[in-house]
Amino acid sequence: MISTAAAAAHPNIAFIKYWGNQDDQLRIPANGSLSMNLNGLETKTTVSFNTDLARDQLILNGEPAGADALARVSLLLDRIRRLGEVTTPARVTSENNFPTGTGIASSASAFAALTLAAITALGLCLSEKELSQLARTGSGSASRSIPGGFVEWQAGVDHDSSFAASLAGQEHWDLVDNIVVISREHKKTGSSSGHQLARTSPLQAARVADAPRRLVLCRKALMEKDFEAFVEIVEQDCNLMHAVMMTSTPPLYYWQPGTVEIIQAVQSWRKDGLNVCFTIDAGPNVHIICPKSAAAAVKRKLGTLANIKSILTCTPGGPARLLEPEITGV
Ligand code: DP6
Repeated sequence: MISTAAAAAHPNIAFIKYWGNQDDQLRIPANGSLSMNLNGLETKTTVSFNTDLARDQLILNGEPAGADALARVSLLLDRIRRLGEVTTPARVTSENNFPTGTGIASSASAFAALTLAAITALGLCLSEKELSQLARTGSGSASRSIPGGFVEWQAGVDHDSSFAASLAGQEHWDLVDNIVVISREHKKTGSSSGHQLARTSPLQAARVADAPRRLVLCRKALMEKDFEAFVEIVEQDCNLMHAVMMTSTPPLYYWQPGTVEIIQAVQSWRKDGLNVCFTIDAGPNVHIICPKSAAAAVKRKLGTLANIKSILTCTPGGPARLLEPEITGV
């Protein structure tokens, strides 16, 4: 017996960051977070449960995945199989339309697409909230790639209370995210290990305690489309996370000289009256956010910077969605 489904999901960029967990296994985060899905970037995943398979298989961008990636996928599939009351192994094929190894995190879109495809292949019908809870257990930020547009993940205290929901649809605010790739190197410490180090920083407790204030300000700026207020809180939140990273034991330094160069450029462009803001995830690349009205000017300015490998330009994206499955040989 074979049952197949396919789904697609966008990655997302967090304006208020997730860093550190209350529960590392279930990925119950230390604080709530807020993000925008990224239209233009996408993971497409097909899941085929097949009674002829001996074990799960994972093909990533046309290549068999390594043991660690497969184990992480199997862990989420086990949870989904328990819901469906089956033990059937699955073949998972997953493709990103953005170049891998650009340092753009794909775990959010990957686990969101995997969750929707696997649940559908088993004939289960879950609410958006339940899909978000499940995706969260694969990768925390994947919980935010299930709903569309601008999304808030409420931290909660357990599996049932920790999930994401839309604050506003993708058409709400015409923000543009220019992802400036300055390094394609694979990061040495991935997010999952980084989250576990967060609690070793003496700054993490203060960052977490202050998160409700930042969430209120970011939500308000977002709903009122107040870019000035948005810049202030998004950049502060990013710097708080990186301060925690740099003061963990051992410390994590994700920034490179090129990262700081871009931060300083953004500040000077803003002084000259351009509406522009930076944020940085667990890597050296910089997300440069601006309203659509400033996008052409920001692109021109970016063209003047040296040492940029590439730029990916994204607008607000929709929710994870089902696709027509392409049946591939098993
Ligand atoms: C810096 O969701 O990638 O991008 O749950 O271990 O997969 P895992 O971590 P992940 O962490 C994201 C960290 C971040 C901030 C954010 O997206 O909120």
